[in-house]
Amino acid sequence: MKTLRETIEEFHSNNKAIGHFNVSNIEMIRAVAGAVRATNLPVIIGVSEGERDVFGVSEIVAIVRIMREVHGLPVYLNADHTYSVERVREAIDAGFDSVVFDGARLSLEENIAKTKECVVYAREKGGTTLIEGELGFIGAGSQLLDAIPEGAAVTEDLMTSTHEAKHFVEETGVELLAPAVGTVHGMMKSGNNPRINSERIREIASVVDIPLVLHGGSGTSEDEYREAIVNGIAQVHVSTELRVAYKRSLQLSLQENPEELAPYKYTKQAILSVQDIIEQRMRLFAGLA
Ligand code: G3H
Ligand code: ZN
Repeated sequence: MKTLRETIEEFHSNNKAIGHFNVSNIEMIRAVAGAVRATNLPVIIGVSEGERDVFGVSEIVAIVRIMREVHGLPVYLNADHTYSVERVREAIDAGFDSVVFDGARLSLEENIAKTKECVVYAREKGGTTLIEGELGFIGAGSQLLDAIPEGAAVTEDLMTSTHEAKHFVEETGVELLAPAVGTVHGMMKSGNNPRINSERIREIASVVDIPLVLHGGSGTSEDEYREAIVNGIAQVHVSTELRVAYKRSLQLSLQENPEELAPYKYTKQAILSVQDIIEQRMRLFAGLA
């Protein structure tokens, strides 16, 4: 099976993006597996610090390994939004395919220094774990929002600049870069989500030689996604819309079957609802819809 590095390179050079979906329980993993089987496309499972603690770091690595080695599914594992170098090291040691060091709220110098530390460690350990750097704050939680998170870089002047991006990539040696280009983590309750600046994506892509990652995917329209991908995004992170679908569907099942006690029965529809969204997103990102 191809490595994550090879898979992303292939998507990148074909102007496609691989989907990255955050999971916090085994039902959501089943939804990802169902979507991979249905689409025959590779996928990245993302677990933030909180999400990976729910499974256990070694346990989630083992689950993904079984999906890949026993079931032949092209599933990769990313340690999403990791705020300390110690936790980055833990994920590299455990065998994650990639790790996001999130220094977006640090000063540029501090972000560069810590991200570089992560890159050096990953290389010392053989270099199979890709390191992704974050530049520009876009909010911190995958939830429904009343307002744009304070300090989020949604205006052109606050978004990641080409100069910063080039400097950051050259100094750190990261393999993937997540710039702030208009999205935020979470989804506006009003439906009025900020717009992606595809021109900025294009400009950044023209000065860095590595694939770009789009965070805060939920709430983005299909056309905006297409434009972002054509302009240089090679990986898209989606979480909030999966959480919304899971919870709504579960609430409905519980309401409709108040006597049902078996979790595998009352979570069945929730798995399918999440799978449905993942499938649609995977096809769209791969240029098949
Ligand atoms: O890393 C996670 C993502 O960036 C998810 O963002 O919750 O807005 O889809 P989202
Ligand atoms: Zn994110």
